[in-house]
Amino acid sequence: MASVTSLSDSVHQRLAAALSAALPQAGSAEPLLRRSDRADFQANGILALAKKEKANPRELATQVVSRVESGEVIKDIEVSGPGFLNITITDRAIVETLAARYADDTGRLGVPQAQQPGTTVIDYAQPNVAKEMHVGHLRSAVIGDSVMRLLEFTGEHVVRRHHIGDWGTQFGMLIQYLEEHPHELDHKADEISGEEAMSNLDRLYKAARKLFDADEEFKTRARRRVVDLQAGDPQTLAMWQKFVDESKIYFFSVFEKLDMEIRDEDIVGESGYNDMLAETCRLLEESGVAVRSEGALCVFFDDIKGPDGNPVPLIVQKSDGGYGYAATDLSAIRDRVFNLKANNIIYVVDARQSLHFKMVFETARKAGWLGDDVKAYQLAFGTVLGKDGKPFKTREGETVRLVDLLDEAIDRASAVVREKAQDLSEEEIAERGTQVGVGAVKYADLSTSANRDYKFDLDQMVSLNGDTSVYLQYAYARIQSILRKAGASRPVAHPELELHEAERALGLHADAFAATVAEAATEYAPHKLAAYLYQLASLYTTFYDKCPVLKAETPEQIENRLFLCDVTARTLHQGMALLGIRTPERL
Ligand code: ARG
Repeated sequence: MASVTSLSDSVHQRLAAALSAALPQAGSAEPLLRRSDRADFQANGILALAKKEKANPRELATQVVSRVESGEVIKDIEVSGPGFLNITITDRAIVETLAARYADDTGRLGVPQAQQPGTTVIDYAQPNVAKEMHVGHLRSAVIGDSVMRLLEFTGEHVVRRHHIGDWGTQFGMLIQYLEEHPHELDHKADEISGEEAMSNLDRLYKAARKLFDADEEFKTRARRRVVDLQAGDPQTLAMWQKFVDESKIYFFSVFEKLDMEIRDEDIVGESGYNDMLAETCRLLEESGVAVRSEGALCVFFDDIKGPDGNPVPLIVQKSDGGYGYAATDLSAIRDRVFNLKANNIIYVVDARQSLHFKMVFETARKAGWLGDDVKAYQLAFGTVLGKDGKPFKTREGETVRLVDLLDEAIDRASAVVREKAQDLSEEEIAERGTQVGVGAVKYADLSTSANRDYKFDLDQMVSLNGDTSVYLQYAYARIQSILRKAGASRPVAHPELELHEAERALGLHADAFAATVAEAATEYAPHKLAAYLYQLASLYTTFYDKCPVLKAETPEQIENRLFLCDVTARTLHQGMALLGIRTPERL
């Protein structure tokens, strides 16, 4: 609705028009505009175009310059080097464009929404029932949450799916044990905490495992339970449901700690596709996509071979008739494409599952379920490493529990907040400590590109200097404090004023928010937004050092600077929200 054309877009439009006028035979011409240190923008597209059309690049550039109207938006345009264009924007255009963003009362800062949105299904935050959540689950949840928010912000229709691991042979053992020790999970569901729920499950799992390993007869009974479970025996299913419910209490408590909204109706685990598995196999077998091999139903691929040179198949159904992870994922694709009407399916899953997804997607393409109109993509993430550069483990060599890690981050962050706190109560310190600590963990995860491994280093994460969420949160809180001091609720812009270099740099960057969000959303790349926000905060720091705000020369200048402060704050706030991170008003 209140979408604002960015300065970069209006310069782009003017240049593209001048270029096609100067070179009509070239059709539509791309000026290749980017931000530059020498002027505000530089256009580099003329060289390639001149080469293609066998024209002299400097001459073409000069012609373009003569056709571009300078005035309201463009202050200055000149040819440089072999045929680049340097473009300077008027101070007035910078302030007026930001004022238009500021006036957008939806809080979207003039960022446009898609005219014809598609439907994206995003599969993320998928822990496993009866198991502890670890750092890998953190990445899927944090990255998925941000990509989901980015897509929704651009207007896409997003369906969330939490493909939890809630099915498999291990449940035979657990259910059998529970039946023989019936009171182990007894409690009134709404009275227990997530931590208690997990310790109940953990205790039960260990006890069941011990008995399973020691007692042959129990083992036999447990195996029989698996068959009952798969056959849908009501009593067995009811017990299985107890495990799922107990686990969900725990999951929800961890997601709440992560300050993340996970809705029950979006949790469709592996078991949710049980009714489709036989049909999925039948369709694959009838179409010849899958073939029987030593009793198992397999899909073979020309380009996927093991170290011995033999093809590695995707096993859709085992020779004993059992279905595994692949059958479930293939059925989930059918559901997402044909029932949910997805145009796009994103899987936020560990890079170590890449071969699985490659085979699953290829199979679905061969079956005609995926194609040009429906795409599937694994947003693969790397491993979380310890300070030593090896996969993150406790000192005892065990995987790190997600809750412990969050608690430690919150402790550290609370210490930082306490040290800097001036007028905060104990209660406020605890609340801010949580927001800063959880933000630090999320930001560290989101600020490197997802496919890379990253080091989990709490010292670095809660540092006030450098590329951290704490730095961004403090920048935001400092602005709020200035606005409070000025008593300015909605400062008015003054486009007639001349701007300081630092004001221009800040203003031009703030205007690029829309383009950054669009890029981060289409590329599923929250780290691009994180880098943008960090730069925004850095430019704000320079501005604040160079340009007195409350002590500026005239009342108009004070107000205009307060306006720049507020635009920056709102951009930081919105940007951080898209990363799933809070920006407290006071720190
Ligand atoms: N539960 C799995 C794990 O913990 C992740 C599930 C990913 N999603 C999927 N559709 N396979 O590794």
